[in-house]
Amino acid sequence: MRVLLHTGKGGVGKTSMAVATALGAAAKGHRTFLLSTDPAHSLGDALGRPVGGAPTPIADGVVAREVSALDELDRAWSAIRGWLRELLREDTDELIAEELLVFPGLEELVALRAVREVEATGEFDVCVVDCAPTGATLRMLRFPDALRIFMENLFEFERKGIRMLRPLMERVSESRILPREEFFDAFESLYRDVEDVRQVLLDGDRTSARLVVTPSRVVVDETRRSFAYLSLYGVATDAVLVNRELPAQATGGYFARWAEKERREQAEIADSFPVPIFHAPLYPHELIGTEALGELARNVYGDRDPAELFTRSRPIRLRKRGTRTLLEVDLPGAKKEEVEVATHGEELVIRVRDAERLIALPASVAGRQIARVRLHGGVLEVAFEA
Ligand SMILES: Nc1ncnc2c1ncn2[C@@H]1O[C@H](COP(=O)(O)OP(=O)(O)OP(=O)(O)O)[C@@H](O)[C@H]1O
Ligand SMILES: [Mg+2]
Repeated sequence: MRVLLHTGKGGVGKTSMAVATALGAAAKGHRTFLLSTDPAHSLGDALGRPVGGAPTPIADGVVAREVSALDELDRAWSAIRGWLRELLREDTDELIAEELLVFPGLEELVALRAVREVEATGEFDVCVVDCAPTGATLRMLRFPDALRIFMENLFEFERKGIRMLRPLMERVSESRILPREEFFDAFESLYRDVEDVRQVLLDGDRTSARLVVTPSRVVVDETRRSFAYLSLYGVATDAVLVNRELPAQATGGYFARWAEKERREQAEIADSFPVPIFHAPLYPHELIGTEALGELARNVYGDRDPAELFTRSRPIRLRKRGTRTLLEVDLPGAKKEEVEVATHGEELVIRVRDAERLIALPASVAGRQIARVRLHGGVLEVAFEA
């Protein structure tokens, strides 16, 4: 099943494009599921009819659902939350625990479990997802790393019986919240779920991000960063959808300077994103209902199949050059001074601005020194000592 994640800055037209993509895919004969994981659901607004948490047919070949992450956060997970809250009350400075307590990104990840459910039915060829704005989507991608580090430390402490944490854990788990077994089970099941979702997100043959952008400076700048972050977390973007372009008849008179500025942004967009770019005009009306959004789909994709994989890329890959092994990461638009690379045991730590990713290194290079780091043509190259 193909998974198409629609994200982008707030208000650029993610929901409209997601609905259009779903309608367009169905028009090509795909059995299509349209899922909203944005906590501020608006499929209903875009369609002009309520959708809600149960699968609802909205057009020929399209079933839609708005996932409530809070409902999805089942009991075990609220128990973890309670446990952590207790841990914090015990006056520790467990920073990671604090971060997990806020659970940045967890809700979106949990909502994405719904993609697995759609897949499990075996009844759909395409799952189109209307995601939260990019900030939240990126937090979600960061979450598994945070969880993993936390779990590893926890289990490590547990295994070694390190004195520092053990009494604390005993105090907490003896106390009001949970027997420790239950706590560990809950944590393990959370971890498995998160890993499952992550596997779907990182499978570039199935899953693509579609970044929606408008031809304006702030949006393009933010989207360029988002593209690089998605790539850093291993999610492949296969197309950029440019929305709300001034139509030809509105480029003179009062709008002449807007049109001029927009031409510059269009050139910038073409330069910034190494993927196919699709376009939609600014309509003279809001896009509400399947008719208007079906029209948007035809405008954006023309005769092409919206479910196609428009470009096949692996954002993180290993290459051999001579005797050296290179790890490459697509980071279009990133600047040298924004990127830091270091090894950390068997892992590589890559930091791009405020985003950090731990990449598990394959056995062939794990433990090797970094020979050279280079940022060239939007690609980060890390060479390891032979
Ligand atoms: N090309 C367009 N021409 C005219 N109106 C548009 C166009 N694209 C979207 N709109 C309108 O702009 C508004 C916002 O669009 P939409 O809800 O799709 O954005 P969004 O990115 O999902 O927003 P949010 O970040 O709030 O989720 C809607 O009223 C929609 O009908
Ligand atoms: Mg939206």
